Amino acid sequence: PGRDSDRGGPQNISVVAHRGASEEAPEHTLLAYQRAIEQGADALECDVRLTADGHLVCVHDRRVNRTSNGRGAVSTLELSDLAALDFGSWKGQATDREAPDREVVGREALPGLAPADTPLEHTSVLTLERLLGLVVDAGRRVELAIETKHPTRWAGRVEDRLLELLHRFGLDNPPAEEPSRVRVMSFSARSLHRVRTAAPGIPTVYLMQFALPRHRDGQLPPGVGIAGPSIRIVRNHPAYVLRWQRAGHAVHVWTVDSPEDVALCARLGVDAIITNRPKQVLSQLGHS
Ligand code: G3P
Ligand code: CA
Repeated sequence: PGRDSDRGGPQNISVVAHRGASEEAPEHTLLAYQRAIEQGADALECDVRLTADGHLVCVHDRRVNRTSNGRGAVSTLELSDLAALDFGSWKGQATDREAPDREVVGREALPGLAPADTPLEHTSVLTLERLLGLVVDAGRRVELAIETKHPTRWAGRVEDRLLELLHRFGLDNPPAEEPSRVRVMSFSARSLHRVRTAAPGIPTVYLMQFALPRHRDGQLPPGVGIAGPSIRIVRNHPAYVLRWQRAGHAVHVWTVDSPEDVALCARLGVDAIITNRPKQVLSQLGHS
């Protein structure tokens, strides 16, 4: 691995839709993921949490308060409780706290979001099982990067459930001649270790929010293949990208939304850009 020129240029950078096409559709909904697939994203990113009755659902926050019309921690709610909530209509409203600079519009005014025509399923809670089904039936190769959220609280239950689902979809043991369709990401090295121990063929991504002294030499926790730095780390320490790559690691950067940051990542020859705006990033990178 080496520089941009060795890797084939910006067109070879994988574009990963963070929580789906989440700038324009409510994050982690079927609608957001379908939109990302339609737009040509190479991969989808999702966060997973365990419900009180042991289902993995795609929700970022510990609580459902920001992204639904309900309240409470995912871990205290059952899947049937979550299924009764609306995970769509918060988008674009004043409570859209993830995007304070965005123009506040009603749901009706969001591009392409037509509540009357949008089946309820498309903005209800999304299980990992349903998302895996979408990926497998996408009609083209789409990868899925699954982030385990707060997995250490569950002493292996998140990873066990995840691997059970991947097994059911035939995704836990990718053939050597074909890159895995799924990868697991985490800020927790322990979570990644659990996944690797049970399913060594699944690539793992070690997420890093801030630059730490131990990142300087390009090393990652033992056995982890992919570095997952924040764009903040890449902006402050652009040399780390090549360092990781020289140590044999691909580099997947999150969350890269501005044209300046996309240009920086392209210049540095990162391997994947994780973005809320897959359409715009694909266009900037010259993907057809
Ligand atoms: O893709 C990694 C990134 O999603 C980690 O941060 O808070 O958006 O899950 P967060
Ligand atoms: Ca995430």
